[in-house]
Amino acid sequence: MALLPILEFPDARLRIKAQPVSKVTEETRQLIDDMLETMYAAPGIGLAATQVNIPQCVLVLDLSEEKNEPLVLINPELLHREGQEETEEGCLSVPGVFEKVKRAEKIKVKALNRDGAVQEFEAEGLLAVCIQHEMDHLVGKLFVDLLSPLKRQLARKKARKDQRQREPGASPAKSGRGL
Ligand code: NI
Repeated sequence: MALLPILEFPDARLRIKAQPVSKVTEETRQLIDDMLETMYAAPGIGLAATQVNIPQCVLVLDLSEEKNEPLVLINPELLHREGQEETEEGCLSVPGVFEKVKRAEKIKVKALNRDGAVQEFEAEGLLAVCIQHEMDHLVGKLFVDLLSPLKRQLARKKARKDQRQREPGASPAKSGRGL
């Protein structure tokens, strides 16, 4: 396993649209293991392959307290969305910035798991928020894109400041809710 460097806003590579995984292979599973290790180390609760400069439709999540319930979604699709809720979000690629974002409250998702099997399930609350946040990464979108222009500008400044404050090689700012 290996820790992968996480791209940070405004890196243009975060804007690349990910390609669907045509076949889930050992290589895909290696990427998943590396992404999980990277997410846990950050620490974060979600990570999309786009964030580690691999433009493939793969994302990992773990919302459990003990960090022992990894969820892997390959080629995720939203089959249904309903309601609306506003939740404070952060992002491992936009360190130091936490803002409220509106998303669907309930979703239905279809994706492949790490064995390449199709899974379909419904999600709500924080899980639904996280899945929508990570799926946005796969199409090159960041949560700061959903903010007002003024708030987005402030977020940009804050992220830059946070990046400057960190020594090269130092661990990222603590954020238990990074996505
Ligand atoms: Ni994110």
